[in-house]
Amino acid sequence: MSDVLEHPEAPTTPEHVAIYRKDYLPPDWLVPEIALDFDLDPDRTHVRSRLTVKRNGEHDRPLRLAGNGLTPLVVRANGADADWRVGGDALVIELPGNEATIETEVDIAPAANSKLMGLYASGGLLCTQCESEGFRRITFHADRPDVLSRYRVRMSADKARFPILLANGNLVASGDGENGTHWADWEDPFPKPSYLFAMVAGDLSANRDRFTTMSGREVELNIWVREKDLPKTGHAMESLKAAMRWDEEVYGREYDLDLFNIVAVDDFNFGAMENKGLNIFNSRYILADEDTATDIDFDNIAGVVAHEYFHNWSGDRVTCRDWFQLSLKEGFTVFRDQSFSGDMGSKAVKRIEDVRLLRAAQFPEDAGPLAHSVRPESYIEITNFYTATVYNKGAELIRMMQTILGPEAFRKGSDLYFERHDGEAVTCEDFVRAMEDASGVDLSQFRLWYSQAGTPRVKAHVEHDASNATAILHLAQSIPDTPGQTGKSPMVLPLKTALIGADSGVPQGEEQLVLLTEGSASVRFEGVVEPPLLSINREFSAPVLLDVERRAGELERLAEVDPDPFARYEACQELMMRALLAGARGESADSTSVIAAMRGTLISNALDPAFKGEALSLPTEGLIGDRMELVDPDAIHSSRETLRSAIGAALADELGRAQSVSISGADLSPQAKGIRRLKSVALSLLAAGNPERGAALAKAQFDAADNMTDRQGAMMVLASMDGPEREAAFAAFFERYRDDSLVLDKWFALQAAAQHEDTVDVVEALAKHPDFTVRNPNRWRALVSNFAANQWAFHHASGRGYRFVTDMILEVDRINPQVAARQVPSIGRWRRFEPTRAKLMRAELERIVATPGLSKDVFEQASKSLA
Ligand code: ARG
Ligand code: ZN
Repeated sequence: MSDVLEHPEAPTTPEHVAIYRKDYLPPDWLVPEIALDFDLDPDRTHVRSRLTVKRNGEHDRPLRLAGNGLTPLVVRANGADADWRVGGDALVIELPGNEATIETEVDIAPAANSKLMGLYASGGLLCTQCESEGFRRITFHADRPDVLSRYRVRMSADKARFPILLANGNLVASGDGENGTHWADWEDPFPKPSYLFAMVAGDLSANRDRFTTMSGREVELNIWVREKDLPKTGHAMESLKAAMRWDEEVYGREYDLDLFNIVAVDDFNFGAMENKGLNIFNSRYILADEDTATDIDFDNIAGVVAHEYFHNWSGDRVTCRDWFQLSLKEGFTVFRDQSFSGDMGSKAVKRIEDVRLLRAAQFPEDAGPLAHSVRPESYIEITNFYTATVYNKGAELIRMMQTILGPEAFRKGSDLYFERHDGEAVTCEDFVRAMEDASGVDLSQFRLWYSQAGTPRVKAHVEHDASNATAILHLAQSIPDTPGQTGKSPMVLPLKTALIGADSGVPQGEEQLVLLTEGSASVRFEGVVEPPLLSINREFSAPVLLDVERRAGELERLAEVDPDPFARYEACQELMMRALLAGARGESADSTSVIAAMRGTLISNALDPAFKGEALSLPTEGLIGDRMELVDPDAIHSSRETLRSAIGAALADELGRAQSVSISGADLSPQAKGIRRLKSVALSLLAAGNPERGAALAKAQFDAADNMTDRQGAMMVLASMDGPEREAAFAAFFERYRDDSLVLDKWFALQAAAQHEDTVDVVEALAKHPDFTVRNPNRWRALVSNFAANQWAFHHASGRGYRFVTDMILEVDRINPQVAARQVPSIGRWRRFEPTRAKLMRAELERIVATPGLSKDVFEQASKSLA
């Protein structure tokens, strides 16, 4: 089977060139050893590097080392002046022999590094971020993931300003130098690609702990933060130990160094980074206590700490050959962190959350101008491919393989993968082959999931033959065209399916795993006595869009009786969605059956509160839009508000009971979290049904809250209202938390997410607030990304929302292109909107592309969105 499809001809300019997966060639030179020597200083850090290089294969090509913003001060080969030149972003050195020692020296300025890639300064610290191509901003190097080296690092710095000096691996020596300096030598015994290099210097304190691995080795664990933040590191530490144990038990993977360091920094482009033995985190994924962090924050911390730890095997020990293989480590590691979180709490609720995220972030990407396969074919700027498709759809691919193979064969497959490829840089193909070899299952057709973009659509209906007690399930699939890809082949869709008796509510036979491999197929079920309810794609076993032909009353009944919690959740959501879509189309929507289903869910004794909270959350405005031919934000908003107020009014008593339950903020058990989740969902619906009562209840919840979950839940409701309660709560919140930047982010975010006619005025004013800054990615995203995700407000018919976001993108692009580029897709989906808005969005994209000096990051996203 051909696995190369046509790829979109990427729009390029002389300085913005596309790189293609098909052009991959092994490296010309290997670099088995690296010694780095840093004289650290925020304004001028001197970097000396010594590379041992070896010619790889028979060729006479020179050594090419990438450098970004570097001027070589010294270049020597084998101790003598070398024959070198600078060509573009590369240092080219002619080498006569097959081996050499290359020495270079450069000066870099961390304090002036606003891109936060390479070595940069954050709140008095010096730290690094090298994935994907940040190492070349520190020193000249091949800087590609298939060049693995053993690193020795000497760090020297002023002892008073930078008392702690950290790098990958083990500390082998340290001491004092001249003029108040000190130094530390670090050695990492594991060969690694340059993107996993890390270093931190600063005034840090550690939460120190230990872990005994399954073979009895002792590991020292440290979480490094500012001293005042130490009390907020307990949850991250517990999560780390739980993750280490889990990876031993579930994957047989043991930690391999004697030391594991985590550092939290305030200025960070992404969530966190899995540098070998020295993970560096955005402080929002480390710091938490119940007064400042919500239950969701706590869960995210556990998930991200686990994710980065799991990378030690799925990413560091076995890494990627090239960046097209990014999902090899990210898809697999997301799947691993999802499974971990499911095991730590409620599996069903975790699955619901993950599917919600997939639908909110990945499905729109797959249906838009930036759609790409899980293993992309080309890129201009690789950072633009750290996407929901590579991460979250990638995780779904691993999950499907586990479903198809079964858990035991899947585990054999992962064992084989780690054993076969330990210490190597490999491809997605290598992963699939290990799964095949270990299980004997042929995954040829399955590989299409890596190469074909677009969310598959499945049509389904059931025909029942009562006289023979049989039912036939008719299925048909289609894969939509995406940019550069048309005429796709049918894929393997694993659909967990059960038929449930409409009268008894009891499953008619066992759940089956239906593998749809053809364009269409019919599957026969025996022993189906009653008219069946179709419960299909249970647990969301395949990441597809389903279109099921249903009899009247079928969804209502499924919402009541389906024993599979995920399927039951889906039935509730689909019922709501039907009413919401009808409302948005201006049809008279009957909400009686939705309300009845919601009442049933709310008062059920069999369901836990966390599940109820999920099932009773209405589909977002964005999700409703995704189901419409063309998105009409005003019609969607009014349809949704109408349904919310009908529900809130009709279920006021039941919701009031759920809202009035209080549980200590110190209780972080899954049960307690579920109760708080339901409490805030109930509050929001109550307020929709009766705004006056809602405002009073919300203010009371805010005042009484002993935890951030209740407090933020109340503010979320107040944010979209007017009146003294809102003013009072936001003012009190600001006063209390003005010095806690992570909490202040919430203050910005809540206002940006508020549903008001004038939210765009509010965010414009907030962008001028003294506490707003484009220099801190968390703060910028709190305001801009939350506003852009607020469909009704952002898509204001005047186009002012588009203008604001575009201005913010262009402003931040001048200092930090990665942050800027990630926001472009919100404007890029213009074709999905009604014509007036589409035109306004398009005009802003054109304004972006016409801006002189645009980064290639933003250029790629904007130009592809216009193509
Ligand atoms: N590998 C990191 C993770 O754990 C993310 C790195 C993001 N870097 C980037 N250039 N986008 O997912
Ligand atoms: Zn990752």
